[in-house]
Amino acid sequence: MSKSVSPVPFTRPQVKVPPHPQWPTLTDVELSATKTRIKKLLARRDAVLVAHYYTSPDLQELAEESGGCVADSLEMARFGSVQNAKTLVVCGVRFMGETAKILNPEKHVLMPDLNATCSLDEGCPADEFSRFCDQHPDHTVVVYANTSARVKARSDWVVTSGIALPIVKYLSERGEKVLWAPDKHLGRYVQKLTGIEMLLWQGSCVVHEEFKAVALERIRKLHPEAAVLVHPESPEAVIGQADVVGSTTALIRAVQQMDNKSFIVATDGGIFHKMKQLAPDKQLIEAPTAGEGATCQSCAHCPWMGMNSLQNLEQVLDSGENEILIDAEVREKAVIPIQRMLDFADKYQKNKR
Ligand code: 13P
Ligand code: SF4
Repeated sequence: MSKSVSPVPFTRPQVKVPPHPQWPTLTDVELSATKTRIKKLLARRDAVLVAHYYTSPDLQELAEESGGCVADSLEMARFGSVQNAKTLVVCGVRFMGETAKILNPEKHVLMPDLNATCSLDEGCPADEFSRFCDQHPDHTVVVYANTSARVKARSDWVVTSGIALPIVKYLSERGEKVLWAPDKHLGRYVQKLTGIEMLLWQGSCVVHEEFKAVALERIRKLHPEAAVLVHPESPEAVIGQADVVGSTTALIRAVQQMDNKSFIVATDGGIFHKMKQLAPDKQLIEAPTAGEGATCQSCAHCPWMGMNSLQNLEQVLDSGENEILIDAEVREKAVIPIQRMLDFADKYQKNKR
């Protein structure tokens, strides 16, 4: 089935990984008072929280308690677009805030920390990417949502991990060749399952890259009954051991729906909160990031997701600072492939029902 996967002769810029931020631990009384103040500020600004599964349990709970959502990146984009609120506060990483703004130019989009970027986004500079596209005009350009607005503006399709495979299958059926960026692991996984001809940008997620295949084999031997759940940003040899490969939502659903009593989970540890909430009787085991050759910098905790906290959320809601702004010309171009993805996902999910 496998056709050509041509790696790009490009060394991606060294992405500087920040230390994981430390936030003060709040007592129950402080936590409850902080949440109450934030809810008031949300009402005052006519704002709604849109949070990712990798953010802290406190933020996830607050998002849900206050009528917002906790979701994967596809659902975050969708949720923001159907809100009447004047302001969206995106607790996640920068590309998620930018996608929200691109889809909702009339709304204010705020983020607790504008430095909350993503190694995939950082590893795909727009000018270099654009030159690469220019060299391959016969390829359909498919970019992962974890990219800047300018990179999206240069693409034909945007995909998230939740919809990448069906979209690329569709392109494959139309006989198209794909130029894929930036995540080489997700790209290789999609290429393997579709057989499509693909040029791969050589980016990766510093968090998922740390999962270790040899150590995972060992843990699987200790827990032979456990199902292995893997996010497709992980290395090929880790994906190769998975019972389920999918988006954060797909992995959460697997814990709820599979009969297994235990699960080895290869993705950011933030996801455990929702998994425990929905399946409290299941045993969850972190996939190993240590072992031979380990250079663990983030140890299954995205440092950029960690930049979101109740403290800076409150500050931003109070001041109105940290607004996401997108150049109008870039937005006009970037909205097309994002909307194409959302329309495709709507139809695809309706047909599946
Ligand atoms: P999901 O779309 O699966 O939530 O993934 C986003 C992400 O950044 C994973 O690292
Ligand atoms: Fe980006 Fe990886 Fe963090 Fe997801 S976990 S936001 S892909 S750095």
